[in-house]
This record gives sequence, structure tokens and C-alpha cells, in this order.
Amino acid sequence: MDDYLWWRDGIIYQIYPRSFADSNGDGIGDLPGITAHLDYLAGLGIDAIWLSPFYPTPDADFGYDVSDHTAVDPRFGTLADFDRLAAESHRRGLRVVLDLVLNHTSDQHPWFRESRASRDNPKRDWYIWRPPSTSPHFRRKWGEAGRGAAPNNWQSVFGGGAWKWATERGQYYYHMFLAEQPDVNWRNPEARKAQLDVARFWLARGVDGFRLDVFNAYFKDAQFRSNPTKFGLRGFDRQRHLYDCDQPEMIPLLDELRAILDAYPERYAVGETFFATPEKVLHYSGSDRLHAAFSFDFNSSGLRYPWNPAWLLEQIQRREALFTGEHWPTTVLSNHDIPRTATRYTRGEQDAHAKIAMALLLTLRGTPFMYYGEEIGMRDIPLRRSEIMDPPGKRFWPLYKGRDGCRSPMQWDDTPFAGFSPSKAQGKPWLPVHLNYRQRNVAAQNEDPDSLLNFTRKLIALRKEYPALRRGEFVPLTAKPRDALVYLRQTSEQTVLVALNFSNRAVREPMPPEVTSQHWRPLLDAPETGATLLSDTYLELTPHQVRLLVTPES
Ligand code: NOJ
Ligand code: CA
Repeated sequence: MDDYLWWRDGIIYQIYPRSFADSNGDGIGDLPGITAHLDYLAGLGIDAIWLSPFYPTPDADFGYDVSDHTAVDPRFGTLADFDRLAAESHRRGLRVVLDLVLNHTSDQHPWFRESRASRDNPKRDWYIWRPPSTSPHFRRKWGEAGRGAAPNNWQSVFGGGAWKWATERGQYYYHMFLAEQPDVNWRNPEARKAQLDVARFWLARGVDGFRLDVFNAYFKDAQFRSNPTKFGLRGFDRQRHLYDCDQPEMIPLLDELRAILDAYPERYAVGETFFATPEKVLHYSGSDRLHAAFSFDFNSSGLRYPWNPAWLLEQIQRREALFTGEHWPTTVLSNHDIPRTATRYTRGEQDAHAKIAMALLLTLRGTPFMYYGEEIGMRDIPLRRSEIMDPPGKRFWPLYKGRDGCRSPMQWDDTPFAGFSPSKAQGKPWLPVHLNYRQRNVAAQNEDPDSLLNFTRKLIALRKEYPALRRGEFVPLTAKPRDALVYLRQTSEQTVLVALNFSNRAVREPMPPEVTSQHWRPLLDAPETGATLLSDTYLELTPHQVRLLVTPES
């Protein structure tokens, strides 16, 4: 297909820089470390890398609290290192997507330091400042002792009220996340321009796109109305978020941002949708909005991650009905905020379920986002309370243990530190390496033809070779799947059949005559059976089998 478009047809691979590869042995992954592994990434067959924040940060939220948007934190390297990473990526045909965190900054950002210093400085209005409210109810519930009541009932995602008192100004400022992450006031024209200039800066430096951190929370209600309440576990969940996100002002801003991107060819923006639904993504994406936004179809049901084909099919069909025309879906199973795919869906070191999940990721209609280590089935590291780094983990333990588990060092080989840090490194990696690293690592899986890594490579290659797998319509062949999910991906010229047996039993899935009468050629068969599995009326699948077939005409 000659209209191959990298962000639509390709695969985007998320790197959490702190945990990917540590070139100088200080225990923290860095940009030169990533550059040293670009051949691996190109060899995997992905099209783009998305880098979680590498900007200067005091690490209150491990990089998502930025204190300078247009520089590199010295622990990650220098701007020259970034330029080299971008150039070397481009030389291998890999695009580079940066994480833009524009909803908030660090409280150590010079903008905020200036803003909080007084009520009459030039940046006084760059953040969200409010006087105390007179409501005795708010004072009791969310005000700070002796400070007067909080301006309204808004809550922080990471726990507690969302308003923090600043003595210098005798006012509260608003933080949707940590108090160390004050929200920027996008309604201030100068702040707005400064933020958009960040995007301009990186585009001029040659980046191919952005992932926008919680973009739909940029604007808050102009009148600061309190949110209505509802049932929920934590304070934040006990509100309907009518007034602290999804405000109408976002639409013209996206239009403006899109124009900035469109001044360059094939640039891209994907939004991290807060309270994601496919309907919301539809609203925020399109030719004068974002190219795409995460709908998190398979991991947005709170802390539940159902693993059954009927539930998955429901989610797929819901989004299939909506993402038509200019709207293009994304598929995400893992990222730096949730337990890893293999942790959620597998027991022990078996990879059968991880293969099914990988096949799903790579054969659905939508851009696959792969999280570093997903291709070797990395599991979350178990952590004791004393080892927790992530602030919400510290706060909500043991109800919620935070996100460190899915951020452990990439497992490259079986040398000490798993090849993440040089084996003679002084410092230990910033988070422990998973104990399974001696068996589960890139080097070992390279050698094993049946490994998840080689399975992933095969699937990526098939997705490249068969346009139906990228662009084809999704046609389910099992209406109410119990054990197996079977579907077609179909263009006018080509049909690929995908069969995933979720169960540990051999199953026979009834197939319509249009399917059984076709001559199919096998594309992938894992675990390999060699047998012809299609009868006149059914498709037979061995336990946990993943099978891809193609009509020979193609
Ligand atoms: C969403 C990011 O994915 C998460 O890691 C971060 O903590 C919050 N936004 C705040 O920036
Ligand atoms: Ca380092």
C-alpha cells in the first residue's frame, strides 16, 4: 500500500527513559542508552518511539513534573544527546514522539516560582490562583488549617484536596495532581503562547509528534463551580468531574495546535484522554483537532482488567462502531501507569496469554502502542512498602501500590543488572530489576524461536506485509465468544482471519460457509500444529492457539 502513514499504519513504542538503558552506570536510564539500542528497535519493526519525559525535573512525579520544557535533565543527557538520538532514529526510519506535559509544571519551574512570589508580578496569572472561599463547609473539609476555606470542592487525583495555600500570596493555587504540580492557567494569553512555543521549539528541532499528557484537563470551569458528588472510594472518585476537565475552550486550542503541527509534513499528536471513552476521543480528534487520542478500551475499567473474549469483543465493537472516516483508533494494553499486560493476564512465567494479548494488540484496527518490555513479557516487580517511590503508591498503600511495578529496568541479558546498567556499575538501578531477568531477557528470547519476542517480530512483519491487518475492516466471526475470539480483517482485495483461543482446551468454533469454503493459506500458527484445522463447519484450535490465515488471492 503506497499511502503508508507512519502513525496510522505503524507501531509506536513507548520508552520510559529512566528504565530503558543506563549508559553511564549511575542507575538511571538515559538518552545515550536509548540511542545505543536503536538497532534493536528498528529490528523489532516498530515505526516510532514515544519518549516519556526526559526534561529537567525534581522528580516529585518522576518526570511528569517538568521544571524546564526545552532542556534535557542532566541525568538523562544533554540537548546534543537528544539531537543525536533523533538523527540516529531518523536514519533508521524511526519517528520520534515526545511527551508534552502542559497541563501543569513543576512547582520548581521558573514560571511558578515567579508566579507564586507576589500578587503583582508579570506571571501572577499564569497559574490558577484563588482567594479562600467563605463557605464554612469547604473550610472544614478542604481548607488548610488557619488559612480559610478552599475555593471549591475540587480534589487531587493523587489524594486530598486540589488547593494548596501559598503564604507569599495569601491565596490558594490549584493542582490536579501533586501539590508539586501546579496547573497552568491556559486562559492567560501569555501562558498559552509560552506553552505553544514549547511545541514549536521541539518541532523546529525535528521531532515528529507529541503525546499530550492529560490534555483534556487543560481548561477548568471559568466560574470554578464545585463538582457534583457521587459514590466512590477515594475523594477524587466521589465527584463527577464536570468542572475540572473537558471544558469547551479545548476545541479552539486543539485547532491552533493542529495548525502548528500541520506547518510540517506528517506530524502527529495523540492525546492522553482523561476519563477516556471512545465517544470522548471522537470529540477531540479529527482533521482540525488531534490526530488521535487514547480511548483505553481494554484498561479503563477502574482497576479491573477482564480477560475474556466476550468482554473484549464488546469493547472492540463499541469502538468499531464509532471510529469511522477520519477517526482512527489506538490500541493500548500497557503503559507506565498501569500493571503490565503479562502481569494482569498470566500466571507465573507462562507466556501463552501474553502471546494472545500481543496478537490482539497487533491485529486490531488501530495504531498499536507497545510499552517497553511488553515484547519480552516483562512482569511487574513486587515491591515492599519501603521500596515504593511513586507518590500515590506511598499515599494509598496497601489499597493501591502505585506504578513502580511496571517501570522496572528493561531486561536485556543475564548479566548483573540485566544489561540495563553496565555490570560494573557503582550505583544500583533506580528500581530493582525483576528477579526473573536471568531467563527473561532480550538475549535469551532472541535465541528461542518460540519466544514472545520472536512471535512479536513475526506479527509485526505480517502487519507490515498485509494491508488488511492495518487498514482492513474488523468483522467478528463469533457473536458471543466463550473460549475463542475469531475475526476477519478485510479490505476489498485481501482477507486475513485471526483466531485466538483464550482457553487451555482444544476448541471447535463454528464457522459460516463463506469462511469454510475459502482456501486459506496459513500465515502464523503458534503453538505450531501443522494440521489443517478448518472443516466444513468449524475451525479447530489447540489450547491457547493463535492462528492467522489469509485468502490466497491476495
Ligand atoms: C498522566 C501520566 O501518564 C502520569 O504518569 C502522570 O502522573 C500524570 N499524567 C500527571 O502528569
Ligand atoms: Ca545513566
